[in-house]
Amino acid sequence: MNSRLSVPQPRKIDRDQLSYLSDSSIVIPLPKSVDRAQLVFLSGNGNINPPLITSIDRGLVRYHSSDGIIRVPKAQNISRDDVKRLRPKLTVLEKNIASPVTPGSRFFPPFEITQELENKAASRIGQYPSEESRSAVLPLLHEVQHKFGFISLESIDWVAKRLNIEPIKVVEVVTFYPGFRQKAPGRLHVRVCRTLSCAMGGSHNLMDKLCAITGIDRAEADGHKDPISVSPCGNFSVEYAECLASCGTAPVCLVNDDFHEGITADKAADLLESYENA
Ligand code: FES
Repeated sequence: MNSRLSVPQPRKIDRDQLSYLSDSSIVIPLPKSVDRAQLVFLSGNGNINPPLITSIDRGLVRYHSSDGIIRVPKAQNISRDDVKRLRPKLTVLEKNIASPVTPGSRFFPPFEITQELENKAASRIGQYPSEESRSAVLPLLHEVQHKFGFISLESIDWVAKRLNIEPIKVVEVVTFYPGFRQKAPGRLHVRVCRTLSCAMGGSHNLMDKLCAITGIDRAEADGHKDPISVSPCGNFSVEYAECLASCGTAPVCLVNDDFHEGITADKAADLLESYENA
């Protein structure tokens, strides 16, 4: 009888083999804790060289957690001062609003809080119940745009203070309604309707003709963020608008606050000339 024991060498075995050998699920033993003395004993040279952790996937994390649940550490409290310190230099308003300066700026006064403006604001706000004063945001913005040509960052702050709301609430309104401008238009601002009836009636040709006459380059125009293009002289600016509610008389456009119907490309020059002395 052979008295020697033959112990089989451990072989590497992959997960598929494991699942084949076990009838159901694979049960992987939980890792045991091991103390430093054992580690030193197990390392060949007596030094402990813990491996550097680079990345680790969720499956591995679950395997190493004692109950299979991955716990994400809670976010720590952070003070308002810390937030201020970490805040990027540009504010949300500055990042979202294009530079307002254009050749048309010379036709509009810089935003200024005058007594006249304060009186108008008080009268507009007074038209709403005191607990709903924020509803005056649209009338106040119209007042600002009418006098200063566009809605500047300073005017957004002023409207927010007058209505006791956060400036971002005013920004939301300004960026939602395409009628509010975020940069100075030209002295004559033309809004050309491009919705179906007007597009079929030739509004794109009208826009091309207006640009050709006034020297406007629309190459940089961005329909959402920066829709207004201004002529180098600052006298004219153009912008596409959605349906201006006169589809039966397409193509139509607005010049400042005046409505014009049936303006085909061949009438573009006459249209602009009619404002020569405006
Ligand atoms: S499509 Fe231009 S006014 Fe309606």
